[in-house]
Amino acid sequence: MADILDRVELDRLLTEAQAEALETPEALEEFRITHFGRQGLLKDLNERFRQVPGEQKREMGQALNAFKGALQTLFDEASSILDAQFDAQTSGQDPTLPSGGVKVGSHHPLSLVRREILDIFARMGFVVADGPEIEDDWHVFSGLNFPEEHPARDMQDTFFIQRDPDLLLRTHTSSVQVREMERRDPPFRLVMPGRVFRNEAISARSHCIFHQVEGLYIDKGVSFADMKQTLLMFAQQLFGADVKIRLRPSYFPFTEPSAEMDVYWGLKTEVDKRITKGTGWLEIMGCGMVDPAVLEASGVDPEVYSGFAFGMGIERIAMLKWQIGDLRLFFENDMRFNAQFTRA
Ligand code: DAH
Repeated sequence: MADILDRVELDRLLTEAQAEALETPEALEEFRITHFGRQGLLKDLNERFRQVPGEQKREMGQALNAFKGALQTLFDEASSILDAQFDAQTSGQDPTLPSGGVKVGSHHPLSLVRREILDIFARMGFVVADGPEIEDDWHVFSGLNFPEEHPARDMQDTFFIQRDPDLLLRTHTSSVQVREMERRDPPFRLVMPGRVFRNEAISARSHCIFHQVEGLYIDKGVSFADMKQTLLMFAQQLFGADVKIRLRPSYFPFTEPSAEMDVYWGLKTEVDKRITKGTGWLEIMGCGMVDPAVLEASGVDPEVYSGFAFGMGIERIAMLKWQIGDLRLFFENDMRFNAQFTRA
């Protein structure tokens, strides 16, 4: 059992308490618990006070009260110093104000345009398909009617994978058409978004990496008129109901006949004249009726089925939509650029 309480001990305890550094909120809380807490020093002293003999009770009681008061003063002083420090650090700040808010991210402009294009085609019954970026010669060229050594292959400067000459980075998403025709039975309507690669010098107008959306519609009795109507509908949804389109004859190995689709941009400003080369028209995609040889090579019977295909560059459409003059901006990931596009 502990000794009976005496003044000497109280003086020693007070000296110890005064020596404690109460300079942080944590230290102050520790002091409160060890002195005033339910298992603390004062509880212990109160118990021992009960054993003080009657004739000393009065005097010891006063001493104990003085000790308690001194501890409380130590605590209160340290506490008000810490409060003042906290106020100084946060002065001018109103803790009841709402915080600055969480910074919300934004979608990349190319993601917004890709999503808008896919949504428009989804409403016309097209579903999304995906294919690999590293492809073989068959899916990128041969299966699409590009003969070996044919100059049409030069239209697309290809990155080859050195250890295997049959492997390359796809130069267009048309490769996904071949894959999907090989594995599906018609009818089907597909849109195929993806990244493509070409060995081209990087400039404001071209890049070695860019994005395309490919489309493919195969069924019985699909005609050029179906294609034109589908693509007109698409252009109206993307650019507005009064958009004008035209189809210009063109050449692609995998479509026959082939066309390029232009939208009318206008000739109002000098910039309009420059970007449309004085015509007022801007090309936005290639398209055509899938060549029967391509259907055949992928296992679709050209006697039974026909279809159309189209392919467009996402960057080009985004540049038109938002009048962006330099393709490289899409790949720099400068947030001052990216965050400007909250919706398509
Ligand atoms: N693959 C072509 C290119 O990258 C674009 C294209 C043209 C895709 C005509 C098609 C098409 O599906 O029918 O330049």
